[in-house]
Amino acid sequence: MTCFADTATSIVTPLVHNQTIAQDTKRMRFHAPEMAACVIPGQFFMVRNPAGNDPLIGRALALYDAAQDGSGWIDLVYLVKGKLTSSLAQLHPGAPVSVWGPLGNGFTPKTTEHLIMVAGGIGQTPFLTLAKEAMGSQAFGKQPRASGYASKVSFCYGARKASYLAGLDQFESAGCRLHIATDDGSRPDGSTAQPQLVTESLLQVLDASQAENCRIVCCGPEPMMEAVAQIAEQRNIECDVSLETPMACGIGLCFTCVAKIGTEADWDYKRTCVEGPVFDSRSIVWH
Ligand SMILES: Cc1cc2nc3c(=O)[nH]c(=O)nc-3n(C[C@H](O)[C@H](O)[C@H](O)COP(=O)(O)OP(=O)(O)OC[C@H]3O[C@@H](n4cnc5c(N)ncnc54)[C@H](O)[C@@H]3O)c2cc1C
Ligand code: FES
Repeated sequence: MTCFADTATSIVTPLVHNQTIAQDTKRMRFHAPEMAACVIPGQFFMVRNPAGNDPLIGRALALYDAAQDGSGWIDLVYLVKGKLTSSLAQLHPGAPVSVWGPLGNGFTPKTTEHLIMVAGGIGQTPFLTLAKEAMGSQAFGKQPRASGYASKVSFCYGARKASYLAGLDQFESAGCRLHIATDDGSRPDGSTAQPQLVTESLLQVLDASQAENCRIVCCGPEPMMEAVAQIAEQRNIECDVSLETPMACGIGLCFTCVAKIGTEADWDYKRTCVEGPVFDSRSIVWH
């Protein structure tokens, strides 16, 4: 499926808030009723700070949360890293941000007994709305979409250390069973346990769920997504990944965002912004 920006709109809108929610991690809210009414889990927005020209080009930020009750707000969560995110981090409520979207294909709702979401670091952002939709607590999109399609949602969430874990309360409130893995063993309650990779946490969840029909969704650093894709393939479990290839235009024009899609023997470049960012993991040629 190709998702050109035919439902996207472009706005410049004041920030409602821009709060620190974890180490180097902020959640920003803006009012965008038209976007909030049509966005679906896994889609993204191209965001700029209109107060400056560096960077000139926007950055893709995934939908984190949106009101579907008519109040029309959208939340994005970002890691303060380079040019755009450092400049966004300085903004106070009332400052304008430029936003285009929603963009990309998003996740397809698929009935499953157990949805397992696997995130590395800031790769967690596409999963709060997906969990809400899968558990049936919120519906998204203008066109009717399935909701309540999973009876159980697990969230394997890996980070460098516990201070980077963001939005745990929100994921818990959405009904997710949390499985935290940190590189240094730190835990959200301040204690220390064994350092663990998020893939180890995924294997534990899968071992405990062998009798269940499972589906995996994954987002994070590429080596981690490749490892998750391998686990899914070995266990013959369907897995969708949301790629985070750098993007310049976000609407299919520039080909900066391509990924190799197909088989080792027969692949083609596909644009992550319009043919993705969500792809079946079996269709990705990782190297
Ligand atoms: C579909 C999609 C969804 C995404 N969703 C999110 C999201 O929800 N939240 C989020 O935080 N990010 C998300 N991203 C990533 C986001 O688009 C940006 O890439 C990221 O925020 C960094 O942007 P930046 O301008 O702050 O950093 P940039 O300035 O673009 O820098 C990126 C990296 O390059 C390094 N760098 C910059 N300049 C130099 C230099 N001169 N020499 C060497 N290294 C350099 C920086 O240190 C940094 O590590 C998403 C990406 C995609 C494609
Ligand atoms: S970002 Fe320009 S084609 Fe995808």
